[in-house]
Amino acid sequence: MTSTMNGRAVRSGRAVKTIFSTTVSLFVGFLLLAAGTAGLSSPAYGGPSYFSVDREFYPYYPSLIKWDRSGAGFTAPEVCSGCHPKQYEEWTGSVHALAFQDPVYQGELNLAFKAVGHEISRQCEGCHSPAGVVTGEIKGPGLKGLSPMALAGVSCDICHSISGVTHGQTPTGEPENGSFILSPGKDTPQGPKLVKRGPYAPSDGCGMGFHECLESPLHLKADLCASCHQVYHYEKHFPIEATYSEWKKGPYAQKGIHCQDCHMVEIETFIRSADTFTKPERKEYRHYFNGANYLLYYLAEAAAIKAGDKELATNLKAKYDMAVKRLQLAADLELYPVYRAGSLAEIKVRVRNIRAGHNLPTSLTNIREMWLEVAATDASGKKVIISGGLDNKGSLMPDTRVFNSDGMGDNFHFAVDPWVITAFSRHDTIPPKGYRDVYFGIAPQKGQGVITLEARLRYRQADQKIAEKLLASVPAGMNLEAIYGIKKVPTLPVIDMAKKSAKIRTRK
Ligand code: HEC
Ligand code: HEC
Ligand code: HEC
Ligand code: HEC
Ligand code: HEC
Repeated sequence: MTSTMNGRAVRSGRAVKTIFSTTVSLFVGFLLLAAGTAGLSSPAYGGPSYFSVDREFYPYYPSLIKWDRSGAGFTAPEVCSGCHPKQYEEWTGSVHALAFQDPVYQGELNLAFKAVGHEISRQCEGCHSPAGVVTGEIKGPGLKGLSPMALAGVSCDICHSISGVTHGQTPTGEPENGSFILSPGKDTPQGPKLVKRGPYAPSDGCGMGFHECLESPLHLKADLCASCHQVYHYEKHFPIEATYSEWKKGPYAQKGIHCQDCHMVEIETFIRSADTFTKPERKEYRHYFNGANYLLYYLAEAAAIKAGDKELATNLKAKYDMAVKRLQLAADLELYPVYRAGSLAEIKVRVRNIRAGHNLPTSLTNIREMWLEVAATDASGKKVIISGGLDNKGSLMPDTRVFNSDGMGDNFHFAVDPWVITAFSRHDTIPPKGYRDVYFGIAPQKGQGVITLEARLRYRQADQKIAEKLLASVPAGMNLEAIYGIKKVPTLPVIDMAKKSAKIRTRK
């Protein structure tokens, strides 16, 4: 097998670049000028780039999936459910199960498809429905005519067919854009055989003749999740989402607490993993993959109710509550007065990331919004601080302290779409177990008095206008009213992650 987990192949492209810049830099200057003027005519895709890509090694580029092809094909989750009903029920309605049908994803995918074409939007599908990419079944946005396996997104037979990763061989030498290998089975003299990889050493009768079992240490590690939880720009390889790298640099990685230990367990177990760095017991793992995206459960619950599926609606409501709980357990606030010459001058709000294994927020940080809302009133009821409110159109007040990022395109202008973003002009997220201090000035107060202070850390999946734009862009044939029963995008729910209040004296 060509895969290695740590093996770092020497990339010829990078070596060439180094030689150029050290020995013939004058000449390179000329070349760059020439490239600059030729920029318009050079292809947007496949043109010269800093990160060279071996297209034979990565045939689905810009998705970096590899398929170890044999006569053994992919199996839809409904088939696995026959023998693994518990895992199936936990996975059903999860963000992984919804990853391909997610209307917010389909909206953005449709915009990508129109802007840069399928050769590039295939990158998206590589993580949101990998099987549909390697088999060539998915040809663009929309759900029409696709097999249950393609529609199932990140399903059983994606994860349990992952036989290795190529993290050291990617253009950046880091996990990115689906850098895993899919091997659903193998050819034998008796015909094709399915092989499923998991946490256990195979027991007798494991798979009951339907599949063979293989013990896989990879499945117990963050590396299994890394390939998809690192989204890099398709050509410039800028890390737009880097949850794995954030985790890897933090205290949880050092203490052996992996993604699974917080996201594949019940809330109580997650709290223990985060607070005491104790690894869960094997029997405690669940297939929830529950994070922060309560909005998606909210939409999916509306669809289940519309379709009359009460059981699924109840399942989704439970997952919604769990995501809200995880958000509320992730952060904490502390309030401190700052006096100058004995007089109250500022309020300091410390925002702590207490239980997220990566930065807070993580992933789509240029879209997610986590912000501070602070209000203070003096004894007469006069407001002395107001920050972080929402106006009646659902927009944040100017100067709100938001923890997230601003995307920037090649032209240094603000950008939202992942095929445009090649840098962040602002990136303000809180590392695991870390904090940020935010100061709010107060006009000088006369005499001794008391100020009532209230601070909330609030979260939503996106700005109202961005959500409206993405949902308005879903492909034709995906009728939001028919599926979700929504005529217009409802005001996005906002969650209070943490709340603190205090009474503060105006003189020391
Ligand atoms: C390397 C894997 C990967 C690639 C490539 C990728 N995504 Fe994603 N995408 C993810 C992950 C993981 C999340 C979840 C992050 C989160 O919830 O914060 C996500 C979330 C999203 C969401 C948010 C969904 C929601 O309900 O809030 C949208 C929209 C989206 N992706 C669109 C795209 C588009 C369009 C592309 C291609 C231009 C793309 N993705 C490429 C892995 C990927
Ligand atoms: C995102 C990846 C992922 C998906 C999707 C996924 N699994 Fe798993 N599964 C895992 C991991 C990781 C473990 C190991 C957990 C541990 O450390 O015990 C596991 C463990 C298992 C086990 C061993 C027993 C157990 O529960 O720990 C079975 C059986 C299993 N999965 C079946 C399924 C089925 C059936 C589905 C689809 C309904 C599914 N898995 C979907 C990652 C996944
Ligand atoms: C005919 C019944 C049957 C079907 C269908 C089936 N399995 Fe299994 N599988 C088993 C049995 C039995 C075991 C061993 C006991 C256990 O873990 O539940 C097992 C074990 C596993 C394990 C643990 C392997 C290990 O070594 O840790 C995984 C992962 C798994 N199955 C995944 C799947 C996936 C994915 C599918 C669908 C593609 C599937 N199974 C379909 C019967 C089945
Ligand atoms: C094949 C790609 C793939 C693999 C492997 C994968 N994920 Fe994901 N994951 C995704 C995508 C895509 C989404 C977002 C789907 C969406 O929002 O539409 C996602 C979403 C999630 C979410 C929900 C985020 C939220 O905002 O609520 C969690 C939690 C998560 N994954 C954890 C894991 C863990 C833990 C593993 C490893 C055991 C893993 N993932 C492996 C592709 C993957
Ligand atoms: C110590 C526990 C812990 C570990 C370890 C951990 N997470 Fe998380 N994760 C959380 C919590 C809590 C949240 C909710 C707060 C937030 O959004 O960051 C979260 C949120 C997420 C989200 C949703 C982000 C969003 O805002 O939409 C994704 C995706 C995710 N985690 C993936 C991962 C992956 C992949 C790993 C491993 C590389 C991992 N997590 C490791 C606790 C953890």
